[in-house]
Amino acid sequence: MIPPEDLQCLKVIALRGGCKGPVFVSSQTIGKMLAISQQTASRRLKGLDTSGFITRTIVPDGQHVTLTGAGEAELRKEFQEYCRIFSEHNKGYILNGTVVSGIGEGKYYMSLVPYKEQFNTHLGFEPYPGTLNIRLSSSSIPVRKRIDALEWILIKGFSTDGRTFGNAKCLPCRIGTIPCGIVMPGRTHYPEDIIEVIAPVALRRKLGVEDTDTVTVEVD
Ligand code: CDP
Repeated sequence: MIPPEDLQCLKVIALRGGCKGPVFVSSQTIGKMLAISQQTASRRLKGLDTSGFITRTIVPDGQHVTLTGAGEAELRKEFQEYCRIFSEHNKGYILNGTVVSGIGEGKYYMSLVPYKEQFNTHLGFEPYPGTLNIRLSSSSIPVRKRIDALEWILIKGFSTDGRTFGNAKCLPCRIGTIPCGIVMPGRTHYPEDIIEVIAPVALRRKLGVEDTDTVTVEVD
């Protein structure tokens, strides 16, 4: 594998057009671009030449440098790796936490027909009556903040028997292969380290988890 400092050097030459044809550089300009001394830059260029990553024509005040096929291939390999890091496919979010018990509110809200129907329409399943409360690990709290910016489904509030039930929002997610949804009430104050998850099945039973056990929620 090519040393990272050589790769950086290939990159600055390529940025000047070195993949297309000879570009004029001096060890001084390369040194400046890479924040290394002129001597180090000079040695690096020589090394790249010896290894077959560039070809050079030395002229009095510098050199004309071209990347070889092998040099360009090294940069392409790096490019592919960045593509993998930033591709749509890898844009998922992972939230880790432990199961906690709430005060039984989830079961009540999830049994209200207008909410149930909306979840069914938007998530494609009738939720098990309840929400699995998960206390996020400290490293998942920033992830939780990031998913706030995603497009959540609006679950509209309603009034019945003189009582008003507020809006909520929902984000499709998965636990393993089970399709789930993160549900958040519309009110502003909500603990930042708790998420509530709904699913078509009883998650505690299906996953065999109880309070303090770890679960991983994935948002694709
Ligand atoms: O009491 P708590 O607020 O935690 O729970 P709930 O929302 O009233 O839900 C009743 C029980 O079902 C709780 O133990 C939840 O953790 C559990 N549950 C589950 O296992 N799977 C779901 N899909 C939803 C809730």
